[in-house]
Amino acid sequence: MRKDYRIAPSILSADFARLGEEVRDVIAAGADLIHFDVMDNHYVPNLTVGPLVCEALKPHCTVPIDVHLMVKPVDRIIPDFARAGASIISFHPEASEHVDRTLGLIREHGCKAGLVFNPATPLDWLDHVMDKVDLILLMSVNPGFGGQSFIPGALAKLQAVRKRIDASGRDIWLEIDGGVKADNIAAIAAAGADTFVAGSAIFNERDRAAAVARMRQALKQATIGP
Ligand code: DX5
Ligand code: ZN
Repeated sequence: MRKDYRIAPSILSADFARLGEEVRDVIAAGADLIHFDVMDNHYVPNLTVGPLVCEALKPHCTVPIDVHLMVKPVDRIIPDFARAGASIISFHPEASEHVDRTLGLIREHGCKAGLVFNPATPLDWLDHVMDKVDLILLMSVNPGFGGQSFIPGALAKLQAVRKRIDASGRDIWLEIDGGVKADNIAAIAAAGADTFVAGSAIFNERDRAAAVARMRQALKQATIGP
């Protein structure tokens, strides 16, 4: 078993009227990161929260904040999220005119930089920037909404990215986002993921600690595939 598995509850499925309390609850339940979904009703058909809410949650977050930008354009808002306390900032390559520049901008602001791949986005975007990414995030649903079903094709894509990461020799995190549950997390880990976003599977449960524990238990049984 890999020892560095990380579980990242997505606040998209939290009670937005009690966000600070919700974040503290999942951290107490064992969250390793807080996944912060930013949607603009332009790049994706939904609208969520921005840097002001990130800044407000920061004092409640004793774990890193993992900002997933589903906005277009991305560059203008990156410094705001860095100042608001983000540790990781990820963006979709289709949403940036200059992917290399955006990755550099995130790192210049002291954050880890992540590149996000939609289900139909080819991995070619990685060809020339493997030395500039700290995290690769594969979407296993189309972005915009929580509570969707895991797209099985993401498993083969995870394996392909795992190979690229291992070949690079760099410590790049491989995150999966969308439809992750206790009953599929072992297969997802076996395909090569080490960081697991889970929104509805954690926040829709009354006992968040039990929900996280079920995932950790399933991960213990996971074996790494070829
Ligand atoms: C979807 C978001 C996800 C979402 C995952 O666009 O990026 O982070 O909240 O939710 P679940 O785990 O419910 O699929
Ligand atoms: Zn997300």
